[in-house]
Amino acid sequence: MPTTPRKILVTSALPYANGPIHLGHLVEYIQTDIWVRFQKMQGNQCIYVCADDAHGTPIMLRAQQEGIAPEALIERIGQEHRADFAGFGIGFDNYYSTHSPENQSFAGLIYQRLREAGHISTRTITQAFDPVKNMFLPDRFIRGECPRCAAKDQYGDSCEVCGATYSPTDLKNPVSALSGATPVEKESEHYFFKLSDFEPMLRNWTRGGALQPEIANKLDEWFETGLQDWDISRDAPYFGFEIPDAPGKYFYVWLDAPIGYMASFKNLCDRENHSFDDYWERDSEAELYHFIGKDIVYFHSLFWPAMLEGAGFRKPTAIFAHGFLTINGQKMSKSRGTFIKARTYLDHLDPEYLRYYFASRISNRVEDIDLQFDDFVQRVNADLVGKVVNIASRCAGFITKRFNGRLSAYCSEGGLYEVFSGAGKNIGELYEAREYSRAVREIMALADRANQYIDEKQPWVIAKQPERETELQNVCSVGINLFRVLMIYLKPILPEMAAKVEAFLDIPELAWKDLHTPLTGHPINTFIPLMTRVEKDKIDAMLASEKPAEPVAASAIQTQKSAERAGALASDPVNATINFEDFAKIDLRIARIVSAEHVEGAEKLLKLTLDLGGETRTVFAGIKSAYVPENLAGRLTVMAANLAPRKMKFGVSEGMVLAAGPGGKDIFLLSPDEGAQPGMRVK
Ligand code: MSP
Ligand code: ZN
Repeated sequence: MPTTPRKILVTSALPYANGPIHLGHLVEYIQTDIWVRFQKMQGNQCIYVCADDAHGTPIMLRAQQEGIAPEALIERIGQEHRADFAGFGIGFDNYYSTHSPENQSFAGLIYQRLREAGHISTRTITQAFDPVKNMFLPDRFIRGECPRCAAKDQYGDSCEVCGATYSPTDLKNPVSALSGATPVEKESEHYFFKLSDFEPMLRNWTRGGALQPEIANKLDEWFETGLQDWDISRDAPYFGFEIPDAPGKYFYVWLDAPIGYMASFKNLCDRENHSFDDYWERDSEAELYHFIGKDIVYFHSLFWPAMLEGAGFRKPTAIFAHGFLTINGQKMSKSRGTFIKARTYLDHLDPEYLRYYFASRISNRVEDIDLQFDDFVQRVNADLVGKVVNIASRCAGFITKRFNGRLSAYCSEGGLYEVFSGAGKNIGELYEAREYSRAVREIMALADRANQYIDEKQPWVIAKQPERETELQNVCSVGINLFRVLMIYLKPILPEMAAKVEAFLDIPELAWKDLHTPLTGHPINTFIPLMTRVEKDKIDAMLASEKPAEPVAASAIQTQKSAERAGALASDPVNATINFEDFAKIDLRIARIVSAEHVEGAEKLLKLTLDLGGETRTVFAGIKSAYVPENLAGRLTVMAANLAPRKMKFGVSEGMVLAAGPGGKDIFLLSPDEGAQPGMRVK
């Protein structure tokens, strides 16, 4: 261990302020948090900053959809993100927003320096423009037919059916996802960052140890393809920072996003007396690390170091990229209920289970990480509850009852203790190298060893022999001390459990240096439960609560599709299969439409009053594009009658009518022959 503490600044990627934190995100924040906590336990000065990434078109549109200002949206989401991160014990030293005065000022400064050094150019480009919304359309907001396989309703940049990538101008029959209008081509002047100016520096930096080998190889491919100028401007309307010398033009969100790392740190410096320049000046000796997902490597390993270099700041010491989370071997999916929000998890399960599970799967490679719930239950219960907590619970009772809580005055198993404390060098190196799964394996091997020691000594047998009183105290004190060493090793992963252990052992905050001195002659408190077993039914309940509420019926698909068209967050189509038992649970009844009315303010809904043979129900149905209300009154249809009532913006919907079709005018309401009786069950 170096004698002078290192000065380290660490970041995680800034989550977009337009959606909730989910378990996929948490791979990154937990990975980073473990590393930071490890550094702090070493006595290094390690500062961890993050922020919400608050700019860009999707955030602007989402705010419009909700009828609120973007500032109000990012404020609300920012609060939710902070609460979610706090729930998982992510110990940021500062959590800020890219929509901040500090960020605006750094973005302006960096841009200005790049411009003065000749790294910015301008040229006119042609882009798709929505003549109804009066705005340029990002590729993702143009839909149309794939130029290669003719699949309908594909994004402007790639086809989800055949995987082709293309430019939005190649799409056949393109429409704006915002208004449905056909986009027109329009010219506009854009600002570009000349990335290729930095190619020699980047080639050097890439091979200088800042990147994982697989990322460095990826970069070589990009160098081969050639570094393109980067378009850093967007036209109004845009939610972001206006470019200082270009009214009506805004910085593209990805320009000011990484600068948000600096801005969050600056905000902390102004509060807590760190020197900003010590960390960011060109020849800074502080270390700077960015933890990111594999999807944003290009921004962090090419644009960002080039921007920093061009503007006279230091470059990152290293970029640590991780893979993506899969759940039970598959991509997270809304329809399977595996698109699990951080909040939903917290409603059902202990956050430290997940921290431990992720730690047991994380390496320093860019591999995807699979969360298997059976494995999750098994590992947490077997390792943490069965092995680690067990050591303390087997020894603490005797110390409390027989020795007034006092541990022996000396450690009677010096050799064994040294094996445990000596493992700290290797385990520390594994943490430092982000090889958490290997660290966890080492720690659990020690836990096995501690349990074996207790099994051999059999304190419960010694306890029955009064003449072996001292031996009993010694054995149990050794057990407690081995447990304490294990908790030092586990503390970066399990900070909350470590805090409970500190209270139980009545000791100050555990630090790595405590390994060298066993606890002797020290009074401990009564044992408290440190962690309970994971119950499988809690996991089932969590998955169930993330499953879409409606049965898989045509109108559910319909709603989902139109939500996506309206520019809502892209989400998985409802494509789960259900078995016959599930289907048979739907209580289908003949219903007569008594009346149908427009709903004030609703684009797609009609309010239907249905007669179920005596019982009246109100149902909001998304069929307005296909039916005139006057023509519906008196008709028969079929409804799902046992759907839980759903509170919607316009009132409570007490069921669902059955309709099918691709949408628009083509939605067809199921119409039984006259003669069917309202209330009749459909089998
Ligand atoms: N706003 C950008 C980052 C700007 S950093 C200057 C962004 N935001 S994000 O919300 O989409 O993702 C935040 C981080 O979470 C990224 O590093 C991303 O790779 C990571 N993950 C998002 N989904 C993930 C999984 N399913 N699995 C693992 N990591 C994931 O990108
Ligand atoms: Zn295609």
